[in-house]
Amino acid sequence: MFISLEGIDGAGKSTHLAALAQWWRGCGREVVLTREPGGTPLAERLREMVLHESMDPLTESLLVFAARREHVLRVIEPALARGAVVLCDRFTDATFAYQGGGRGFDWAVLQQLEGWVQAGRQPDLTFLFDVPPEVAQARRVAVRQPDRFEAQDTAFFTRVRQAYEQRRLSMPARFAIIDATAPAHEVTAQVLGVMAERATGDLEGR
Ligand code: TMP
Repeated sequence: MFISLEGIDGAGKSTHLAALAQWWRGCGREVVLTREPGGTPLAERLREMVLHESMDPLTESLLVFAARREHVLRVIEPALARGAVVLCDRFTDATFAYQGGGRGFDWAVLQQLEGWVQAGRQPDLTFLFDVPPEVAQARRVAVRQPDRFEAQDTAFFTRVRQAYEQRRLSMPARFAIIDATAPAHEVTAQVLGVMAERATGDLEGR
């Protein structure tokens, strides 16, 4: 099973990755915890550039998809082929949200890149941690050295959130929307509840 976690910066999604990993390990499954941009040595180098160097939105989109290509071929596909559960902190929905929504870059070009890079591969389940930009911003204040995205204003994150919603509406079956304004332990309970429900088929199939 390929599971991605998405949301605007400050939504708190990363906190719940560990709980999901523990849940799947409790089911006796190998878990691969990974992230985007990143997940391979080359993709991690591309991540550094994307997060810290100023660039044009097409360059930014090409770099995140280049990193994704490496990640899909070298980590995600082999892990899924051997039956592991892949938990990925962000995937292509983030490109549509940040480059498409936040930067206002051409959605159709992103769809074309997605087709080339992923050859139809999509997460089986995507947790979308939803939180108003103002709440997320208050949480981000704790970040000492914001990257190029974390440093953006509320209007940017409003567009990112809207683009996530647009993406969700285009593939509703894949998404589980999580109210991330609740206290962390309640959010974890929501996430594990959805996971238990959705995993039934996967676990029975083994
Ligand atoms: P993180 O803070 O969740 O690790 O994500 C790194 C940043 O990269 C985050 O601000 C979102 C951004 N990003 C994109 O702009 N496009 C992408 O395709 C991905 C995966 C992340």
